Amino acid sequence: MQTINKLVLIMENFEQLKTVKFYSGEVTPLEMHKVRVVQKLNLLPIEERKESIFGAGFNTFLLQNKDVFLDMLTDSGTNAMSDNQVAAMSVADDSYAGSASYYKLEKAINEVFNQKYFLPVHQGRAAEHIISKTFVKPGSVVPMNYHFTTTKAHIEMIGGIVEEIYTDEALKTKSDFPFKGNMDIDKLNKVIEKWGAENVAYIRFEAGTNLIGGQPFSMANLREVSVIAKAHKIMLLMDTSLINENLYFIKIREEGYLNKPIIDILHEMLSYTDFSYFSGRKVSCTRGGGICTNNHDIYMQMRDWVPLYEGFLTYGGMSVREIEAMAVGLYETLDFNVISHSPTFIKYLVDALDKQGIPVITPSGGLGCHLDAGEFLSHVPQTQYPAGALAAALYIASGIRGMERGTISSVRDANGDDVLADVELLRLAFPRRVFTLSQIKYAEDRIKWLFDNRELVGGLEWTEEPPVLRFFVGKLKPIGDWVDKLVAKFRQDFGESL
Ligand code: F0G
Repeated sequence: MQTINKLVLIMENFEQLKTVKFYSGEVTPLEMHKVRVVQKLNLLPIEERKESIFGAGFNTFLLQNKDVFLDMLTDSGTNAMSDNQVAAMSVADDSYAGSASYYKLEKAINEVFNQKYFLPVHQGRAAEHIISKTFVKPGSVVPMNYHFTTTKAHIEMIGGIVEEIYTDEALKTKSDFPFKGNMDIDKLNKVIEKWGAENVAYIRFEAGTNLIGGQPFSMANLREVSVIAKAHKIMLLMDTSLINENLYFIKIREEGYLNKPIIDILHEMLSYTDFSYFSGRKVSCTRGGGICTNNHDIYMQMRDWVPLYEGFLTYGGMSVREIEAMAVGLYETLDFNVISHSPTFIKYLVDALDKQGIPVITPSGGLGCHLDAGEFLSHVPQTQYPAGALAAALYIASGIRGMERGTISSVRDANGDDVLADVELLRLAFPRRVFTLSQIKYAEDRIKWLFDNRELVGGLEWTEEPPVLRFFVGKLKPIGDWVDKLVAKFRQDFGESL
């Protein structure tokens, strides 16, 4: 196991990379781009924020963006595009079949991912649909480092079984383990033994593991898993939606990778897989998605579902403009300044909050800053949804929209009881290159205020609960009058301030 001391050593070597040191010695993330197009933001007074959250049924998914100041709901489809991506969109070749834009994308897939065959789809979950439809049967098992909501839903809808084989470190909210996205090798062997290799549809490895806080896996762990998969003739699938930040962490945290070019690290990662898929809404700062492989047989098994569910093989449900931007975006993932942007800004906020004793997932990962809502609101029982309550309270206190990643995002069991989440998190996503440092400092300030006033925040209960993926459109209400108390305290402390 890689220790934190080793990590510190590697971080010191990080200085060898061309990063900017400040004369003051302060570690400050620096934007390596300039802003050329802006969107006006709106920060409503707290009384109107209160109205908006009631209107949204205390579900941040249901807030209107015009009522949101910093939209930290997700990085999905909300990343800033580069000037070269926007320029590429204007030369797109519109045609149903054989579009020149598609062949540029296919070339990018070949060069950046080193993968020969490509199936375009309209977004990541469409890839999950086609992959599960092709390879999962009722009763088949899919071991994975951790599930993602849509991934699990697609597998279970077909009658497949998801086995999560994360390490003991993964769910520790406070940790200095650099690779919490790793698979537990012992557990993997046991799962294969328990179900029989012939019943394992494939092993799924998610880069930048979303639901445990954007945490990376190590190359060493991936290599070990691939050896086991090969020995049992089980396919290895990688979800590369969040591969940018996983690449960054392997480069700066794993011994032997600091001086390797990003493209070599990426090719090594994918060389251990049989196939992979991605959400273009994340990896390429566009929309869309795709499935990649070097295995002709795997490609052929899935190919014919694409025209049926997505669109012809040269667009797969994407607009040709997105396809052009995606090709450019994939090349840009090979730029250290691009892949280091979010992790360094996230680290800034995580470290600042951690220093003030505010419960936050450590070490900082990619994707976002994750507040440990179970600890933050330890007086709110899990059955009253502390992560949902914290999401609503932070919106009221700041106009910042985060995403509940706790029991509301879970399901009910056969008896109708909540399946309590392993961890109650409030995710504050960092769309790539979108927020400035002063906006992040505003987030830090309001989170600190909320932490100092956390006793005022209470729980939530359902008013409308959909049976599937209830977190998207379900509605709740506060238990008691905690919202009014929070608003009154805000006015007392901030006067007329927004
Ligand atoms: N895999 C991962 C790791 C994801 O984070 C997502 C989406 C998907 C697959 C599905 O891709 O949205 O293009 O259909 N994550 C978004 C999020 C929704 O907010 O984290 P999609």
